[in-house]
Amino acid sequence: MNTVYAQRRARVAHQIGPDGIAIIPTAPERPRNRDGDFPYRHDSYFYYLTGFTEPNAWLVITGDGHSTLFCAPKDMEREIWDGYRLGPEAAPEKLGVDAAHSVAELDAKLPRLLENRDAVWYPFATHPGLETRVDGWLAKVRARVRAGALCPETQRDLCGVLDEMRLFKDAHEQDVMRQASRISARAHVRAMQRSARMLREGSDVREYHLDAELLHEFRQGGSQFPAYTSIVAAGANACVLHYRADAAPVRAGELVLIDAGCELDSYASDITRTFPADGRFSGPQRALYDLVLASQHAAVAATRAGNRFNDPHEATVAVLSQGLLDLGLLDADKVGGPADVIASRAYFPFYMHRTSHWLGMDVHDCGSYVEPTEVGQASERRDPLSGETIVNRPSRILRPGMVLTIEPGLYVRPAEGVPEQFWNIGIRIEDDAIVTAQGCELITRGVPVEGAEIEALMRG
Ligand code: GLY
Ligand code: MN
Ligand code: MN
Repeated sequence: MNTVYAQRRARVAHQIGPDGIAIIPTAPERPRNRDGDFPYRHDSYFYYLTGFTEPNAWLVITGDGHSTLFCAPKDMEREIWDGYRLGPEAAPEKLGVDAAHSVAELDAKLPRLLENRDAVWYPFATHPGLETRVDGWLAKVRARVRAGALCPETQRDLCGVLDEMRLFKDAHEQDVMRQASRISARAHVRAMQRSARMLREGSDVREYHLDAELLHEFRQGGSQFPAYTSIVAAGANACVLHYRADAAPVRAGELVLIDAGCELDSYASDITRTFPADGRFSGPQRALYDLVLASQHAAVAATRAGNRFNDPHEATVAVLSQGLLDLGLLDADKVGGPADVIASRAYFPFYMHRTSHWLGMDVHDCGSYVEPTEVGQASERRDPLSGETIVNRPSRILRPGMVLTIEPGLYVRPAEGVPEQFWNIGIRIEDDAIVTAQGCELITRGVPVEGAEIEALMRG
């Protein structure tokens, strides 16, 4: 495993040039309230280059391929309270870095490391205060120019280099993501079954009961934490896009939308399922569900190497637009045919988010959504809803190893002209896909998605 991180550091060294230097801190610990911190989560860039999860650590890579780690020193008293520390003595052997020092030496050592480099690279706008720290170190280098030291003249954003690397998941990363997805799929199955079982028993079911099932299965599978705040939304709550698992009653006859995924060994999964609380769809619920599912099938078919990132979204919108007309949620006499619905974005009140995002260590993972070789090909269009001028650039060409979500939805709020039978129904179906040469591999289908399969699972 060490070799994976060493290879990534070598790629960074190559890209910053022989006289460059890159500085990558991990995330700070964040206080929650008196004496207590939020659960610690390392910085994704830092982990990507070290595999090291302790707080209070920095990585420095120089263009000659040399890497130096600064980490918390061994301290028996602190380790009794806070736990084991690797310490700089053991770090080179364990992490494959060339040198390691106590983080207490960072300010003393960084100016010397920066001397005689032409450019200093670090992640811009991700670590508050980092720019000031770099300025302080550069000031110390400048103080030595009369002694013949050269001071870096350029500061460069390291995010672009690392984002591009992280966008393509290697075999090891794909394996971890498959495993995270399997755990999350089991968690969704468990929540669906608990909902139906409790309602059959006549219990008072609350959103938090289903959230408890998710958390149980995540931890049971070895996941460290949820990859993001779980959404467990009963009934009309599903129409609130960023709703959280709360205490609302889960009632027979209503749908439940769960958007939840675990993080396993630093990699996220991201699954949404919408199911009937008691295991039986009503007619209108099923009609809307099948429309969202059909739009997801179209998006999956459009997810393959060579297509663009926007293609699955456009495939989704085409199916949803036609379906909204067919089901009477949009009136063709007012909005015209499906092409008009797409051009005027008349579907927007029911589908107001995009269909995909990159997925990786961060749930909304890094990586440019514009094709790098085509950034200069900008065109302008007027948004039909806001009237704003929007600059479009060709969207990213999908390549094997990229991982994205495919998550169409429909959210129907009570409104004039909208058939009442659909009011307050919110549906999203979300799966995670690894792009392959021929198409894509859906890694989250351990939880069923077809309406009849969900009903069968919940009867069981
Ligand atoms: N769970 C966050 C998202 O689906 O984008
Ligand atoms: Mn998502
Ligand atoms: Mn999601």
